[in-house]
Amino acid sequence: DDSFTSAMTLTNSGVPQVPDRYVLPPSQRPALGSTSLGTTTTETTTLPVIDLSLLHQPSLRSRVIHEINMACKEFGFFQVINHGIPSSVVKDALDAATLFFDLPVEEKMRLVSANVHEPVRYGTSLNHSTDRVHYWRDFIKHYSHPLPKWIDMWPSNPPCYKEKVGKYAEATHVLHKQLIEAIAESLGLEKNYLQEEIEEGSQVMAVNCYPACPEPAIALGMPPHSDFSSLTILLQSSQGLQIMDHNKNWVRVPYIEGALIVQLGDQMEVMSNGIYKSVIHRVTVNKDVRRLSFASLHSLPLHKKISPAAKLVNGNNDNAEPAYGEFSFNDFLEYISSNDFIQQRFID
Ligand code: SIN
Ligand code: FE2
Repeated sequence: DDSFTSAMTLTNSGVPQVPDRYVLPPSQRPALGSTSLGTTTTETTTLPVIDLSLLHQPSLRSRVIHEINMACKEFGFFQVINHGIPSSVVKDALDAATLFFDLPVEEKMRLVSANVHEPVRYGTSLNHSTDRVHYWRDFIKHYSHPLPKWIDMWPSNPPCYKEKVGKYAEATHVLHKQLIEAIAESLGLEKNYLQEEIEEGSQVMAVNCYPACPEPAIALGMPPHSDFSSLTILLQSSQGLQIMDHNKNWVRVPYIEGALIVQLGDQMEVMSNGIYKSVIHRVTVNKDVRRLSFASLHSLPLHKKISPAAKLVNGNNDNAEPAYGEFSFNDFLEYISSNDFIQQRFID
């Protein structure tokens, strides 16, 4: 059945149970103890939080770069505080997203598409027409860099959407450049190693809405996956994200007021020749609160083939061979539109 029903519609109609298509097989349920994909969710692991303002203090910069190196090696993940994006910009973007998801479904449906190449796309689950299991998530995704090229295609309702979300998109683009520089430095590469690619690179903003869910123990908002980006900057309105640690434990990411989450994606894993790994993550849902998130996926240009940095292949380290072949973002889009790739990769 590929008729479209958004998670918001189900929540608003007050269904007491999730429809069958949302029910995960027992081994994939978030509430379960031990599974092949990760054991019990743990609260004991402390996840890294990095104060980015210290990068600008010459005497402290190398210490922060070291913290970034440790976080990227161990988790491919960290949270940042004092990141320079004003809280009013963050709040305005969240407010605009709330207004968007509260629009009547007919209005949002004008932007619906199952085509992953569509520059502006409203949808539910991952891809409602092909998903075997559905996820309790609605989303609007839009290309966001360079902003003037795309913004006219963004939702014109609510009327504040373009301005408010546009400001946040520009601010995350600036922040991601600083992060890429610091991460390159943490790998011992030139600070401007990826400068050119970044200017021409893409930014896709996924604005996610996970409405309150009547049966959060047997459904998920997003299945386990890694992002294909080089770097993802994630804003969450409340707790719900979990990441997988080295021991394949699911670790709950704490909500920290004012913080943003940085996740390494597959492009960074390839570029670092596997010294850094992309982080596998999933989204749990809850009974009471609607959760919003903005995932800003920063990637190299569509046609650019990604390969390990020469310095990290030839150097005197454990990674003396290129561990990855070349792959472009375009190749990846072809791959995900021809396969049910997330389910192939992590669920089968
Ligand atoms: C994502 O993985 O793109 C979304 C993560 C989240 O909603 O926290
Ligand atoms: Fe993700």
